[in-house]
This record gives sequence, structure tokens and C-alpha cells, in this order.
Amino acid sequence: MDKVTKMSDKGIKGSGSGQTPDESRRVATTGDIEVSTYLEIAKEIGGEQPAPVKEAVPAAEREAIVVIDFGSQYSLLIARRIRECQVYCELVSPDTPWDRIAPLNPRGFILSGGPASVYEPGAPLAPAYIYESHLPVLGICYGMQALTKQLGGRVTPGVKREYGHAVLHLSDVDSPLFVDLPVSSPVWMSHGDQLEEMPPGFTALAYTENSPFAVIGNGDGIFGLQFHPEVAHTPEGKKILRNFVYRVCACKGNWTMGSFINESVAIIKQRVGKGKVINALSGGVDSSVVASLIHRAIGNQLTCIFVNNGLLRREEVERTFNVFRLNLGMNIIYVDASERFLDSLKGVTDPETKRKVIGEDFIKVFEKEAKRIGKVDFLAQGTLYPDVIESASSSTSAPAKIKTHHNVGGLPAKMALSLLEPLRYLFKDEVRQVGLELGLPEEMVWRQPFPGPGLAIRIIGEVTKEKLEILRSADFIVMNEIKKAKLYRQLWQSFAILTDVKSVGVMGDFRTYGYLVAIRAVTSDDAMTADWSRLPYDVLARISNRIVNEVPGVNRVVYDITSKPPSTIEWE
Ligand code: XMP
Repeated sequence: MDKVTKMSDKGIKGSGSGQTPDESRRVATTGDIEVSTYLEIAKEIGGEQPAPVKEAVPAAEREAIVVIDFGSQYSLLIARRIRECQVYCELVSPDTPWDRIAPLNPRGFILSGGPASVYEPGAPLAPAYIYESHLPVLGICYGMQALTKQLGGRVTPGVKREYGHAVLHLSDVDSPLFVDLPVSSPVWMSHGDQLEEMPPGFTALAYTENSPFAVIGNGDGIFGLQFHPEVAHTPEGKKILRNFVYRVCACKGNWTMGSFINESVAIIKQRVGKGKVINALSGGVDSSVVASLIHRAIGNQLTCIFVNNGLLRREEVERTFNVFRLNLGMNIIYVDASERFLDSLKGVTDPETKRKVIGEDFIKVFEKEAKRIGKVDFLAQGTLYPDVIESASSSTSAPAKIKTHHNVGGLPAKMALSLLEPLRYLFKDEVRQVGLELGLPEEMVWRQPFPGPGLAIRIIGEVTKEKLEILRSADFIVMNEIKKAKLYRQLWQSFAILTDVKSVGVMGDFRTYGYLVAIRAVTSDDAMTADWSRLPYDVLARISNRIVNEVPGVNRVVYDITSKPPSTIEWE
């Protein structure tokens, strides 16, 4: 029987969180559990495709730059760069109708790069309304070629692909795009096709050795760049984008996390009305920020369910609880289901089975608790903008599947819950800022991602209480030393693994036979690839010393010096 605690004003002791796996290992972009949780629920129950959450579209008074996404790997980066200028920016596909764009109140358009060639049949082009709107347009790489073709210029296949650094020389230093730019600066090129002839009314504003038309403009707000201003290899690129946004599009720059919070609170209030919302709290950044934001809007109409699966790190449960209880006074149902999870994991050694078992248990526990609440109208989720974009372009991503199986009935009396995803237009760094503005502690806002199945997949072989204790102690030392060395935020993840290897050691006059603990610390941007961190030797030495001295049962520590690929970040 799971222990259930309704949080009102007292703290708790223990450890845990909920979690669930997918059939295959997924890349945890959100660092949270809800996505996979509801994916599993949805899989069991099936249901209807939800209507898009219209209320989450930014209010009409907001100004926006709209990026027409032709499929470049850098498209999301363009949106991030524009948002860094405090201007709201969204990515849309070239077939997006004007009705969807108009409410954003666009002040200008950016046509992204992309892998196609404009002269190929079926190559994507910018929708006609972009030119008919008479709003400013900035075409980047493929986007420049598209606008060239559409406005009457000529693009031909390049003799050789131009890829890498080039030096940009300005020929029209008075162009508003070039304010505060040096006459020459490095830029990053990545294109095969060449602009052969500019459209009527355009002039060349800058050139490189290989591109006489590196920047073109028509004097009426339409520009093309042959290079990528959004990437770090174009150091003046941010300035060019900023000039476009402020000097060409005349944006004011009102996209701040403060304004986002105010707007979201109003939207959530209006959408939820007197309804009830549930959310699975995990201690992860996204679920924490979602919970705080919704709580600010509707207070105790939100109930968070926090399932302790007994597989969390040391002090994780207490930390999460204290924040939400002390700082926010939130309505939390705490379920200590650690015994149940341990029972289910008995004898399980295969990592994918571990994930499955943990996922199934989580759903059952969560569902049971949700049913107790009575009628619930909304399910809050920490879906972020990259998930939304990914789901738009892939039918296999978790968020996409969730959309397909929106009807997460089976929760109270098979009622259909609507999804509440207030972060669906935010990037991770913006979510962190929102968290800080909502008063969440830095420690929570900057928490490294922690996998759903928790410590279970960091114990090689069967999970037992004894092994969990050993790993928790070793892991705590790793985190502690990494934080003391001020390396925590620089690392994507840093943690300990309890292997099933035992080896001989010597302690004082005695021989020991103890576990081998491995340390993993990696840098990464997105968990798709990762590099092992060159941790300073003295930090490694302290970690190793402390683990063998302070954690009974461990007599050897090794450091994992493989990158991903070929290894994965987790060992299981
Ligand atoms: P790998 O080990 O595949 O991990 O390189 C990539 C990222 O995903 C996290 N991870 C998981 N997250 N459930 C999760 O929520 C899982 O089953 C799971 N497996 C791996 C891992 O921590 C890393 O950040």
C-alpha cells in the first residue's frame, strides 16, 4: 500500500519521484517526467487528437518576427537570437496560412536556410502574403535564394559548394543592417547554389571573395544574406539580426519574461475558469516552472501529484517539497510508493524492462491519486518550444504522440483532460528565467537533467535497497564536489554509476572486496552528442577519496572517458 501525504503545511522526509520510460530510450529534452508519463497513459487508453491550444498564442498587441522555416538545422537558432533581442519570434512552415500568422502581429519576416535547391521542382517558397504584406523580409541562405527567384532574379547551381569561413566586405556602409559593423568581418557560409542575377530593384550591399552578392537589398525593407548570421561563427551576426529587428522592422522589444508571466497568468485564468488542473511534479526544471506559473494564476485549483518511486537522489524529495511548500504553499499530494517500485524491480536486470516496470507503476500510482481528486479538467505539462517544433516535423516524437493520444481519460471517470502547456512557446533558457522570476531557487532552476527511471538505470544489474543506498551516497559526493568546484552548471550531467563489478582492495591491515563505482561527467548541448568532461585531477581525486572513505562497500572508483557517440551518457 503506497503512503499518501496531502501536503498542507508540513515538510516530508524521504526520496523519490515519478517516472516512466518510452519503449526506446528517449532524449530527455525537458528533463521531466510528464511527457513520457502521459504518453504511456495515452497508449493504454487511446483517444482523440486535441485541438491546438489557441489561448497560448501570444496576445494581439505583441510584436513578433516570424521565421518561415525551410528546414535549416539553424532555424531554431534564428528564433533564439531574435528572442535574445527581446522580440517575440516564432517558426512556422512555409504552408502556414495568413490567419495563423496575423494574430502574432508580425513586424517582419525571416526566411530561413534549408537543404533544398530553389530550381528543383517542388522546392518550398515563401507564401505570397509575405511580399503582399509590405513588411520587411530577411532571407538567409536558401531564404535569400527563394526570394531572389520569387522576385525575378536568377539562382544557379554553384560550381563548388561554399562551406566555412569567409570574409564579408561592406560596400554600402550606410545600410541600416550594417550599423555598428566593421567594414570587414568573418561570416559563416554554407551553400551550394549561387545567386546569379539580383531581382529588379536590388543592389549588392556586401561581398565576399566567392559571393559578389553576399548581402543584397531593395531599399524597401527586403534583404538577403548569403551567409548565416545566427551561428557563432559569424561574430557580427547578432548585430545584423538586431539591426534588422530594430532598425528595419522598428520593433520595440517588449518580449520579457516578466511580460510573459503576466500574459500567461491572464491566459491560464481565463482558460481554466473554475476548473481543476493536475500536474506531475518531479523536481525537474520544467514541471517545477509549470507548477509555479499555474499556481500563480489559479492557486489551489492546481493539485500537484508527487510520486516518490524511491529512485531519486539524496535529498531530492525534501528539496522539492520544501520549495513548493515553503515558498509557494502549493497543494501537493505526496505518494511514497518506493516499496512498491522496489518490489516490482525485484529480479529485474534488463534496463529496458526496468524502464517499463517503473513506467507502468508510475502510471498506476498517478492514476489512482488523480482519481481521488474528483473531477479534473486539465493536465499541465512542461512541453517546451523545441518539443513543439520537433513534433511538428516528426510524427514519432513523444510530444507528437501525446497530441495524437490527447484523450488521457481513465483518469477520473474516463473524463477527457485538456492539456495545459503554458511553456510551449519558450526555450529552455527562457523557462529558467521564468522560474527565477517566479521565485524558484537557482538550485532548482539550474538542476541538471535527471532520467525518469532515476537511479535504477545507474545501478547495473538488479536494484536493491542496499545498492540504492550505496549509489545515493556516492552520487551525493559527486554532486557536492562538482558544485564546490563550481562546475555544476557547465556540465550537462555529472553522476555516479554503481557497477556490478566487485574487486579486491586493501584498507588498513585488511583486504576488502567491494563495488566499483564509475563517475560520468559530460558536456553537451542537447544530449544527442556529448563529450566527456576534462574534470580537473584534484576534483577527481577528492571525489574518489571521499567515496572510498565515506561509502561502505565501495573500494574502487573509475572515471568514464568516452564520448557520445560511441557511448551513451547513461550506462544503461
Ligand atoms: P543516453 O544515455 O541515451 O541519454 O545518452 C541521453 C539523455 O537522456 C537521459 N535519459 C533518460 N531520460 N528517461 C528519461 O527521462 C529515460 O529512460 C532516459 N534514459 C536516458 C539521460 O540522462 C541523458 O540526459
